[in-house]
Amino acid sequence: MAALDLSIKIAVIGAGAMGSGIAHVAARAGHTVYLYDMNAEAVARGKAGIEKDLRFLVGKGKLTEADFAATLARVVPSSRIEDLADAGLLIEAIVENLEIKQKLFRQLEELVAESAILATNTSSLSITAMGATFARPAQLAGLHFFNPAPRMALVEIVSGLATDPAIAATLYDTARAWGKVPVHATSTPGFIVNRVARPYYAEALRVLAERAATPATLDAILREACNFPMGPFELMDLIGHDVNYAVTRSVFDAYFGDKRFTPSLIQQELTLAGRLGRKSGQGFYDYREGAAKPQPVVEPAVGRVESVTVRGDLGIATPLLARLEAAGVRVTRTEGKGDVLIGGARVALSDGRTATRRAAEEGTPNLVLLDLARDYAATPRLALSRADQCGDGAWHEVVGTLQAAGIAISRLDDVAGLLALRTVCMLANEAADGVVQGIGTAHDIDTAMRYGTNYPEGPLGWAERLGVGFVARVLANLREHYGEERYRVSPLIQRCAVGGRSLTGFS
Ligand code: NAI
Repeated sequence: MAALDLSIKIAVIGAGAMGSGIAHVAARAGHTVYLYDMNAEAVARGKAGIEKDLRFLVGKGKLTEADFAATLARVVPSSRIEDLADAGLLIEAIVENLEIKQKLFRQLEELVAESAILATNTSSLSITAMGATFARPAQLAGLHFFNPAPRMALVEIVSGLATDPAIAATLYDTARAWGKVPVHATSTPGFIVNRVARPYYAEALRVLAERAATPATLDAILREACNFPMGPFELMDLIGHDVNYAVTRSVFDAYFGDKRFTPSLIQQELTLAGRLGRKSGQGFYDYREGAAKPQPVVEPAVGRVESVTVRGDLGIATPLLARLEAAGVRVTRTEGKGDVLIGGARVALSDGRTATRRAAEEGTPNLVLLDLARDYAATPRLALSRADQCGDGAWHEVVGTLQAAGIAISRLDDVAGLLALRTVCMLANEAADGVVQGIGTAHDIDTAMRYGTNYPEGPLGWAERLGVGFVARVLANLREHYGEERYRVSPLIQRCAVGGRSLTGFS
């Protein structure tokens, strides 16, 4: 298959936030683009928005004046649907309502050539259901851009039951020719990104519901220790709780109430209260005039120890030792199961059990657990939890020694799997289920999460780096701790953990 020839005209129906962004992308690629909306003012606003965005690119030196003028001229405002008759690809970005979209497509099918490709930018409706009323359902596919379309690289090419694979392949190549990063997905609730991203919000909400730390502290942990571009609470405030809650609900309902996707009471409360986030002035944070932004909570500075003993292999946390040494802490190495003795405390990476339970099971009361960091050699912050049995003196020795290595310590109450570790493991778990169920290949799912949400790393590749056996153990421990279906371990993770096959190689 090849990308659509530039001589083929594109029609974008719906000139709102998404439609005008998609028209921008197609016009910049070199196509003539009809921009149509039932509301003529929306078309004018849409075209003005494209002009403003293009002008911005000229200002940045990314577009010449000549290209600016030519690109803008290729966007043809259309006030009558009949104007779209000679388009070869029609991209619908109107209101998110199945019947209204089907009605529009019935009109379009009457109007355009039989070979014309019909695409929908829906983010939540089934492509299979939409196509069911079409004369030519094989011509329909999802072409799911992310907001803002000119800046977000990912496009999910979504196939319904009837979609002709050749149509999906043409859209894939066309999106690529337009400078985007396309992935193939099958029509399932949330497609790839809106499904696999659920645990990013859900785990943080759950840890907050257990009152383990403040939203600002939890946000800082995922941002600073794991390089997510935004923490979950500030991101939900930006998206809007009404929207984010509605997506969670729709995925939960669409999967027949699968506990994995259970919405959060905290978010429901915010939505009911009208605290929708930035747009309403209040959400997890207060955006009203004069409101101070809460800072993440860190442990106060305390004293350090002079030397520590590492027992065995610390695995991914090993680079911490070099940081301690650089801070003048003497590090002695002996055999063992992978922990560090700091003063009177034993410090280990979380494995999904609480510190309190592990301290009891392993007979070491002074146990402190480390959360995940993406790069222990550089992280400016680490989350720690301590067993209820752990004495204050031992805890302070750990905190002070890590602080001496330049690390801000945020304490979480003793939740299972802390925050970053359980979040990354649950993202990988969801991604793995997506692979098992054929929603996308492992490669496409990781690509989708990197380019659709700007995660620093695809969840499957990340899990592989952590060790699939370790991820499987963390998930199994979470499952046992909560006794909930939500933490069931994906069959693919179980299989790779015991069989040694690579998670990222599956398709
Ligand atoms: P929007 O509300 O900004 O724009 C929708 C436009 O469609 C409006 O200008 C409206 O006048 C027009 N419209 C409504 N019914 C129409 C009809 N029957 N015929 C012609 N025009 C009609 O909405 P937005 O945010 O651009 O969303 C559009 C679609 O894209 C929806 O399906 C949405 O789920 C999807 N989407 C939205 C994303 C977002 O972040 N806003 C991200 C990805 C997909």
